[in-house]
Amino acid sequence: MNTKIKRIAISTGGGDAPGLNAVIRAATIAAINRGWEVFGIRDGYNGLFLPHDYPEGGLMPLTRHAVRGITHLGGTIIGTTNKGNPLKYPTKRKDGTMYEKDRSDEIMRAFKKHKIDALIAVGGDGSLSIAKVFSDKGMRVVGVPKTIDNDLSKTVITFGFDTAVSFATGCIDRLHSTAEAHQRVMVVEVMGRYAGWIALECGVSGTADVILIPEIPYDMNKVAKKINDRTKSGAKFSIVVVAEGAKPIGGSTSVIGKELGRAERIGGIGERVAKEIQKLTGKESRCVVLGHLLRGGSPTTFDRLISLRFGAAAVRALDEGKSGVMVALDPPTVRYVPLEEATKRLKNVPLNSDVVLTARDLGTSFGD
Ligand code: F6P
Repeated sequence: MNTKIKRIAISTGGGDAPGLNAVIRAATIAAINRGWEVFGIRDGYNGLFLPHDYPEGGLMPLTRHAVRGITHLGGTIIGTTNKGNPLKYPTKRKDGTMYEKDRSDEIMRAFKKHKIDALIAVGGDGSLSIAKVFSDKGMRVVGVPKTIDNDLSKTVITFGFDTAVSFATGCIDRLHSTAEAHQRVMVVEVMGRYAGWIALECGVSGTADVILIPEIPYDMNKVAKKINDRTKSGAKFSIVVVAEGAKPIGGSTSVIGKELGRAERIGGIGERVAKEIQKLTGKESRCVVLGHLLRGGSPTTFDRLISLRFGAAAVRALDEGKSGVMVALDPPTVRYVPLEEATKRLKNVPLNSDVVLTARDLGTSFGD
């Protein structure tokens, strides 16, 4: 046992994903069983450096009791945020203009003040890049890969993805009946940022006719041809799945807004695609944006299990003296990869992936 660790903190950052609470439970129990004290940092890192009104402080004691009965719950009991990145905290100058300030040293001082020996950072590329800075500054850190987008390198899968894809597939199943009944084109926009994993996997599983993903820029005429061909062959409805980050050939990602201290917000492409399909095919087209519904609900069995495995593995890593690493799924096992490698670049859908080839073999159009 690593005798130097007495107190650890857990932080959940970025967009919530089903499985966060399962990670918290597993890490907490595994740590308590080693005699460590465990605290949850409220709302990403906010609990350590921003004013708050939590009566017991910005660090929530994670006791055995506190983590009872949470494995199946969506969200995170310690809160999260994707605003106010502490490395780029939106700050006002005297003249009223804003700039992004690095407040990481304040957090390092807070770790010291609260005698936190190690941090388990649960997050996507943004939160894990922040955690890497703390690791570089001397904090003992182990990361856990979370995101419904599944866009983190060096792990076969992130937790939250399976739940999001399963839910989206169920929605596509439901949309089939109304599409068929009304002879419409139903366009389903799903999250995923700059990666098409969710759209691809729910699109293939839900037998969509067209799947548009950021990795394969589309030509709207090709999309319209696929729909017209279906109409001619007697299939009077179509299902089109669009990743929020999809873009036309020569075009760019549809961005809703950009604020200081947070990633740009993506969306709106589904509505645009539906309008263009209606114009080009004459068929009534409707858009459904699944949005944040994909992040809610109870984690699937798969997500629960990898979340519990990741949480326990993060504690084992700390106990073995590891730091600056992320736990990663490398079936059949969980291994540790340097945080630096995991956050260097996003994991996109490979164009020759078996799932892409499967879709093409089944006649699904990517609009290319
Ligand atoms: O990264 C998870 C995610 O849900 C993305 O798929 C999406 O683009 C983004 O977060 C939305 O963030 P917000 O909750 O700020 O709208």
